[in-house]
Amino acid sequence: MYNVKLICGEQIPLEMHKVRMVQRINLLPVEDRLAAMKEAGFNTFLLRNRDVFLDMLTDSGVNAMSENQYAAMMQADDSYAGSETFYRLEEVIHDIFGPVNFLPAHQGRACENIISETLVRPGTTALMNYHFTTTMAHIQKRGGKVEEVIGDEGYRIQSDQLFKGDLDLDKLREAIHRLGKENICFVRIEAGTNLIGGQPVSMGNMREVSKLCRAEGIPLVYDASLLSDNLYFIKTREPGFADVCIKDITREIASLMDVSYFSARKLGAARGGGILVTDEKLFLKMRELIPFYEGFLTYGGMSVREMEALAVGLQETMDFDVISQTPIFVEAMCNELIARGVPVVTPPGGLGCHVDAKAFCSHIPQEEYPAGALATALYIASGVRGMERGTLSEQRGKDGKDKLAVMELVRLAFPKRVFTLSQVKYTADRLEWLYRNREIIAGLKFVEEPSVLRFFFGRLAPIGDWPERLAEAFRRDFGDSL
Ligand code: F0G
Repeated sequence: MYNVKLICGEQIPLEMHKVRMVQRINLLPVEDRLAAMKEAGFNTFLLRNRDVFLDMLTDSGVNAMSENQYAAMMQADDSYAGSETFYRLEEVIHDIFGPVNFLPAHQGRACENIISETLVRPGTTALMNYHFTTTMAHIQKRGGKVEEVIGDEGYRIQSDQLFKGDLDLDKLREAIHRLGKENICFVRIEAGTNLIGGQPVSMGNMREVSKLCRAEGIPLVYDASLLSDNLYFIKTREPGFADVCIKDITREIASLMDVSYFSARKLGAARGGGILVTDEKLFLKMRELIPFYEGFLTYGGMSVREMEALAVGLQETMDFDVISQTPIFVEAMCNELIARGVPVVTPPGGLGCHVDAKAFCSHIPQEEYPAGALATALYIASGVRGMERGTLSEQRGKDGKDKLAVMELVRLAFPKRVFTLSQVKYTADRLEWLYRNREIIAGLKFVEEPSVLRFFFGRLAPIGDWPERLAEAFRRDFGDSL
């Protein structure tokens, strides 16, 4: 964002773009929202988009694209093998990330599938700052285990530590010593640590982790899906980086890693994914799997049009004004909510604003999914669709008991350059109302529970008639307002 101050000294999130194409959205009356939520089995993933007002479920694949991305799509070279589009994308990857071997894949979890198949052996452990749902599922599917070595501050909802995604080097050293380096399949750093509230990792920490992994001979894997927010935070929060350009920061990060991968549904505001590998032998091993799972090597399951959009999207990610949009809107939303007394993860991270459902609904036991209940309640109260990131998103233990999540969050994602300040204010208003009426909200229970990644398709039921009572309270307080 350019440095623009208002007469009162206030700085507002100022959009450095204008809207040239719009999509109409619907705000249903509260009774219809209640009916839609019942239909969706009290799971925001199962709502139909036509019933959603502001879709803050995720940024994945729903970021606004630029005119240059659309223009580039028109010059896609449609061929099965040897497409010029691939070579254009590869050139951009080299320009941004330096000398790496590039493998295309259809999305982030497809990269995780290939990386896990190549590196994970039964009984080995992947050490990481924090797991992501699909990452963990792929590692466990291959008989591997996940151990988190994030710093203690990462687990604190409210903190003033600016890089809560940093790995704790002592924990990392201790785990390597305890497990033995031969039993560690890889160390993974996730940029913009998703499940703890989009929290960044500092360059200083990445340098140290890389040094340690290289000394021990353990592969270092970087999940760059949320790289753009992390770049913004390194530049704005880490001493010594204010004058370093985004591309130089990116190049240095890439040089520290053995394997980097990304979901292009997030990074590059397109749809697809990619793996970057430095070691030639490892690259050749992974390359064998691309035609097996993804498609030929010059498209990897992506449409060539998306690859053109990705090439431009990656270049645009090197522009500070482009990547600052999401974090400054997240911060604006967090500040609105803090001012209204609503508990959120601090400091504000990237990706979205994360509401602390454990504090918001402290009367709901974790076994009754407070974050799931709050996401449901927010939709009924506002038509805003958020995502549960708590116990519901965890896998049940072998003993059949719920594995209680460290944090119970409702994520209100900010797809890049999609929402406006008035929409932020509307959402904050409805959350404030919900907070004042939080005692009405009660828990949820599963009625249909898939055994893997249950949050996607699982169907739930409310414990009691609280959704009806919530809709009635809304009507009483807001009269004929939508
Ligand atoms: N890694 C991270 C950090 C992610 O956030 C995601 C996706 C993936 C990997 C998998 O990528 O969806 O392209 O297969 N996160 C989305 C989200 C789904 O809503 O946070 P994918």
